[in-house]
Amino acid sequence: MSLEQELNQHAGLKAIFDAAMVDIEKAGRPDELEAARVKYLGRKSELSLLLRSIPELPQEERPVVGKLGNQLRAHLEQSLADRRQELEGGELEARLAAERVDITLPGQPFPQGHLHLITQTMWEIEDIFTGLGYRIAEGPEVETDYYNFTALNTPEGHPARSEHDTFFIEGHPDLLLRTQTSPVQVRVMEKEEPPIYIISPGKVYRRDSDATHTPMFQQVEGLAVDRNVTMADLKGTLETFTKAMFGAQREIRMRPHFFPFTEPSVEIDVSCLICGGSGCRACKNSGWLEILGAGMVDPNVFDFVDYDVDEVQGFAFGMGVERIAMLKHRMTDIRMFYDNDLRLLGQF
Ligand code: DAH
Repeated sequence: MSLEQELNQHAGLKAIFDAAMVDIEKAGRPDELEAARVKYLGRKSELSLLLRSIPELPQEERPVVGKLGNQLRAHLEQSLADRRQELEGGELEARLAAERVDITLPGQPFPQGHLHLITQTMWEIEDIFTGLGYRIAEGPEVETDYYNFTALNTPEGHPARSEHDTFFIEGHPDLLLRTQTSPVQVRVMEKEEPPIYIISPGKVYRRDSDATHTPMFQQVEGLAVDRNVTMADLKGTLETFTKAMFGAQREIRMRPHFFPFTEPSVEIDVSCLICGGSGCRACKNSGWLEILGAGMVDPNVFDFVDYDVDEVQGFAFGMGVERIAMLKHRMTDIRMFYDNDLRLLGQF
């Protein structure tokens, strides 16, 4: 016999059952369901009062009310719990439906930055040389007179040491903003023995400002010291670099030059990126564009770091990163890099 049929034995309990089941079924929200719970199972509900009054009931009614009353309570608790679950499930479904997001809609675009062309160029140069087995070495931007000039065989009285060319630190006549990344050569050689294969990227400073010079710019220095290093190694290395940077069809040439810390010294030109060498305005009809300075390390520099000049030789080179980027991207004014005009920078 089902509980419902059994309840026919007691009209009061049956009435509670009927009313409660209707209200529980009708409850459409959690708060309505809670109201039904209080009404039918709360301390002051008809059922609770009835169960509490059992001792006062006539003898023969007590077991019926006790047994059926408790079964009814259990049944109502179960029905409430079932209905609550139904409502919560329904609520979740309703929320999911209401908050549904159409993930196929296009997103909201937002402006995205990227690396500055100079950083990109710097990283490209670093990639090429680290691929050739060079390691990156860095040094301070505020440098001593000794590392920036003296140990690089640049004696007192050299024009680069003049206040017109170099930023000195006030009150410290021995300190300056490095004018080149070459001092890192000396710092590395002081600490380490050959073989040495390093490049040294970084900022340098000069009292210069025009279409092809900014007071701050970037250089990458290179140094290779080993046994049996010749100028052919220098040329091969820089030719490899040039082709990787500017394209496999590029040629290079060496032109005699002077640097205090290399002997002999050269400047390296690349065949014109625009006319390919036949002559145009960009290369002033020469067919060549200058890209960097280089040479065989001067024995005097090796003396400063106590290397045995009879045992080792080396070559060195130094390039301006802005210059490389300008040539590669055909820019005419170095100051454009630092105007922070996104219409320009965004193109690269
Ligand atoms: N330091 C030179 C400059 O700033 C560039 C340079 C030329 C570096 C020749 C070198 C080199 O190491 O061998 O103009």
